[in-house]
Amino acid sequence: MSDTRQNAMWGGRFASGQDAIMEAINASIGFDRRLAAQDVAGSRAHAAMLAATGIITDADAEVIREGLLKVLSEIESGDFAFSTALEDIHMNVEARLGELVGEPAGRLHTARSRNDQVATDFKLWVRDTVDAAAERVESLQRALLEQAEAGVDWVMPGFTHLQTAQPVTWGHHMMAYVEMLGRDAGRLRDARARMNESPLGCAALAGTGFPIDRDMTARELGFDRPAANSLDAVSDRDFALEFLAASAICAMHLSRLAEELVIWSSAQFRFVKLSDRFSTGSSIMPQKKNPDAAELVRAKLGRIFGANVALMTVMKGLPLAYSKDMQEDKEQVFDAADSLLLALSAMDGMVRDMTAEPEALRAAAASGFSTATDLADWLVREAGMPFREAHHVTGALVAKAEKKGCDLPDLALDEMRGVSQAITEGVFDVLGVENSVASRVSYGGTAPARVREQIAAWKERLG
Ligand code: ARG
Repeated sequence: MSDTRQNAMWGGRFASGQDAIMEAINASIGFDRRLAAQDVAGSRAHAAMLAATGIITDADAEVIREGLLKVLSEIESGDFAFSTALEDIHMNVEARLGELVGEPAGRLHTARSRNDQVATDFKLWVRDTVDAAAERVESLQRALLEQAEAGVDWVMPGFTHLQTAQPVTWGHHMMAYVEMLGRDAGRLRDARARMNESPLGCAALAGTGFPIDRDMTARELGFDRPAANSLDAVSDRDFALEFLAASAICAMHLSRLAEELVIWSSAQFRFVKLSDRFSTGSSIMPQKKNPDAAELVRAKLGRIFGANVALMTVMKGLPLAYSKDMQEDKEQVFDAADSLLLALSAMDGMVRDMTAEPEALRAAAASGFSTATDLADWLVREAGMPFREAHHVTGALVAKAEKKGCDLPDLALDEMRGVSQAITEGVFDVLGVENSVASRVSYGGTAPARVREQIAAWKERLG
């Protein structure tokens, strides 16, 4: 199954063309065409630098730079005939440039290799995506802030082990996600700062003998500086791995919020109503309104974390410098990026649209003996009881209420005193859920006063 097509870019030493299977496994144009804009930007910067350093003429550089814009516009308008025989985006662009401008196109690849070219293109792409992801994370934070502000003092059950633990405020719960997402945005920005060194000019692996100016291309492409070691720069995919790692943690956070939305929107909880815009119906059960968007957001982590594992495995054990294995970096990152950006947007929409049900939240908060800890704390504070004893007394009171089928504040004072004489009328002040949350004023606690401070601080940070 061989054919006689020879690659015009490197076919010099080859007597026969490639097997079709070879072409199929080798080509990346099917996916790396997504790097077209970055490839053209990198090549334009390179051409300008080649002219500035006298390696090519100004006239050739100008023809090349104009021609590259024409190639990009053909690609963007869908008029471009991609060729698998030309393997990848780099050679597709260069070949078309040759058709458009002739001889000067052949000078573009001076002092450069596809190894530094792909590292540059891909890093530019990841850098743009990191910026887009951080922006979407912050948009979601703003949506959560609005929810937090609307219900800063709504009382809801706080859970541990998904069992009622202590009352918390809706605002506090929303702000927990604002904090998580703040770390996600921070991780993305940290990764961006670290990746922002230019591989361009590292050439194949060893650098070049041409008098290039790597600072110039780095500056032109928005990098902070050129990467300092050419072997490292052409074989580094840490920037992609860091993006995937930060994405996976972010998607994990989204999955937790998504899971809460699934639970909260169920008929058993009714804590929130999701909008029709972000729900689906059932083809057989007319009453159903399904939280599909939340479920899919919950699931996206699977592919994002999968990409992480896949790329780490590709990179593991690769000797320096470039190996073709590294071509397997792109599809993983593209898929993870698409998944993350979509999940963030879907969550943003769901959170903006959802309506919490303060009545249902409060009713749930008041059940399940959620103020038992407040009762125990009261015994410690007011009756000087050791906490362990107070814990025991409270446990007995919970058992009593449970037997009676009521909640703690529904027990009569006499019934309570039957368990401990230390209890007085004043205990009822702390058994209500509003008092409970209002009392938790420690820094980071659930009291509305504290949560308001956090909301104000985050509003300031997010601008
Ligand atoms: N398509 C290749 C990739 O994505 C570009 C670099 C090819 N370099 C080489 N020496 N064959 O990795």
